[in-house]
Amino acid sequence: MNPVFYHNDSGRAWVTIDNPPVNATSQAVRAGLIEAIASAERDNCRTGVIVCLGRTFVAGGDISEFGKPPQEPHLPDVYWQLEQSPVIWAVALHGTVLGGGFELAMAAHVRVATSGTRFGLPEVNLGLVPGAGGTQRLPRLVGAELAADLASSGRMIDAQTLFDAGGLDAVVEDDLEGYIGKLLDSASSHPLTTSERNILPVADDYFTSLASAVDKKAKGAKAPQLNIDAVKWAMETDFIEGQSRERQLHLALRDSEQSIALRHAFFAERLVSKPAAIKEVTAAKVEHITVVGGGLMGAGISAACLAAGLNVHLIEVDDNAVAAANERVKGLLQGALKRGKITQAGFEAQYNAFSCGDDYRAAANTDIAIEAVFEDMQVKQNVFAELARHIRADAILATNTSYLNPEEISTDIKNPQRVVGLHFFSPAHIMKLLEIVDTKETSAQALATAFSLAKRIKKVAVLSGVCDGFIGNRMLAAYRRQGDYLLADGATPQQIDAAMRAYGMPMGPYELQDLTGLQIGWANRKRQAPTRAATERYVTIADQLCEKERFGQRSGSGWYQYESDRKPVVDQEVEQLIQHYSNQNGIQRRTFTQQEIQNSMIAVLANEGARILEEGIAERALDIDMVKIHGYGFPRWRGGPMHTADVMGDDTVATILASVVKQSPGSWLLAKKYQR
Ligand code: NAI
Repeated sequence: MNPVFYHNDSGRAWVTIDNPPVNATSQAVRAGLIEAIASAERDNCRTGVIVCLGRTFVAGGDISEFGKPPQEPHLPDVYWQLEQSPVIWAVALHGTVLGGGFELAMAAHVRVATSGTRFGLPEVNLGLVPGAGGTQRLPRLVGAELAADLASSGRMIDAQTLFDAGGLDAVVEDDLEGYIGKLLDSASSHPLTTSERNILPVADDYFTSLASAVDKKAKGAKAPQLNIDAVKWAMETDFIEGQSRERQLHLALRDSEQSIALRHAFFAERLVSKPAAIKEVTAAKVEHITVVGGGLMGAGISAACLAAGLNVHLIEVDDNAVAAANERVKGLLQGALKRGKITQAGFEAQYNAFSCGDDYRAAANTDIAIEAVFEDMQVKQNVFAELARHIRADAILATNTSYLNPEEISTDIKNPQRVVGLHFFSPAHIMKLLEIVDTKETSAQALATAFSLAKRIKKVAVLSGVCDGFIGNRMLAAYRRQGDYLLADGATPQQIDAAMRAYGMPMGPYELQDLTGLQIGWANRKRQAPTRAATERYVTIADQLCEKERFGQRSGSGWYQYESDRKPVVDQEVEQLIQHYSNQNGIQRRTFTQQEIQNSMIAVLANEGARILEEGIAERALDIDMVKIHGYGFPRWRGGPMHTADVMGDDTVATILASVVKQSPGSWLLAKKYQR
């Protein structure tokens, strides 16, 4: 079906795009636009209006076409025809005008938007530069500063901001088409086209200082800087030359490793919330949440639910703990108010939807109860038993445990099919990841309800089976273990941290441990000691730091030393301790290159991920990539460890793993795909 309709209304062309869901510029839309422009010219229309049906104006290109050779007509040619047309073309804008949609708007002669419309060039998020003149027309419309900012960040702006910058002719509250009709009736001559406009000069050092700020944030992603370069071409060359350079770069980037990885992440984000386990299962309605335990996690979980408009009741042990939890939650809401995330009215609405007490009877009408009490089996079992006595038989019973087995927590629960793990990450009101843990007994409906809650509170939810640490912390344990082997054999914490930062991680594993505290890892290692394989190499350096009460930043020292500014300073005592450990264990310390460190750390992640898949703990490799990207800062532009390993190839990863195994014989179980 043709997604573009043309209608000549007494000399005014009306062109309607109807390509749900977001009116993407597919080949059929491009061809339809070319035809409509030609029809309007053939009919000698003086003016024309392009409108979109559905919830938005064109919101981007058709990403599914990206892996294939570009098909005619090409977008830049369509927009050039539009801009050069003798017809005065207006665009009626609503929804999210993004990428190719924003470029279409820039090429038109008159731009009017409803007040809720938002605009952006999100190509950078897919490792690209715009491909149809966005970086060349936008600076001519709104100035190079805003253009470079939008193109390099991918952030969106609202209609009023774009209007103030000169990018729109008008912003209207309603009757968009009526307003445009009147505007065009009074248009006497053909307006200047965007590509004919001059660009105002910017301060000499503008681009260099923007580039250095962008580079700091990019952590290895190339597209932000390339977008700045492309905007600069608009200042240095004429439109035709600039557009042709932009197009060439866009096409080259489509095949780049970074763009392929970012597209993988983009699609994974859409697929991750639809595991086969909940296919065609209807979620139960959720309005009331009970949270038990109002410490760090319970308060964060409450705030996340309140922000989504849910009612939250929090249960603590006694009056003092209730008061403290109340303050904690209030503090988080006040923080959101202070940062401008919510209005005063929003704060009040959220705080009014919150209550706190020590009586389980208040949980009688809850839809989901989430426990976030101490990480102790007995305490959690008692809380579950108490909840089960009070909540409805069909309400969901969830645990936020990091490491304990939810099946054991719920051994005495009568209908365990409603038990699910909801593993949030700290700070729970900010971190995007939520692992939804499926026990042997969990029903598909309980899972579907958990996924629907996750969507409501804007989390990236990943389905995980039961294993020690679930997907994320199990991968983290392998990663840290390999780090410790490297330390024992010759590396230093600062070398490993620098290597992983250079790889694109926001922090290295040791500075991160110092930030979050070494105690949890220590407790875990003690807990796991009885089941640890006798052949596994166990490096005690971290334990020795804990024995010296070097727990990280909060105790003033950990893997590093800290002064008041929280900046890690290399500590001789730690170096000596590591050296001493190597000597005592008869290890001839050797040097590791940055590449060796990175390869071995990534290979153990890929191996652990592959084992998680083989064991059926994760349904798909993309689930693991989502866990690492959204919970552990794995660089998005690398697509996650599983995608990275695919790009490296099984044989390469297997070769690296062989040397990892040689370094620490008997310590690693290899996934089948990496056994040679
Ligand atoms: P926390 O120590 O800050 O808070 C625990 C709260 O539970 C305390 O306020 C305590 O008064 C309350 N509590 C204890 N027994 C209770 C009972 N019987 N009834 C009601 N309230 C009770 O601990 P945090 O860090 O919030 O951790 C809670 C859970 O979340 C643990 O299972 C932990 O493993 C898990 N978790 C922690 C993460 C973290 O980064 N801290 C991340 C993800 C999960």
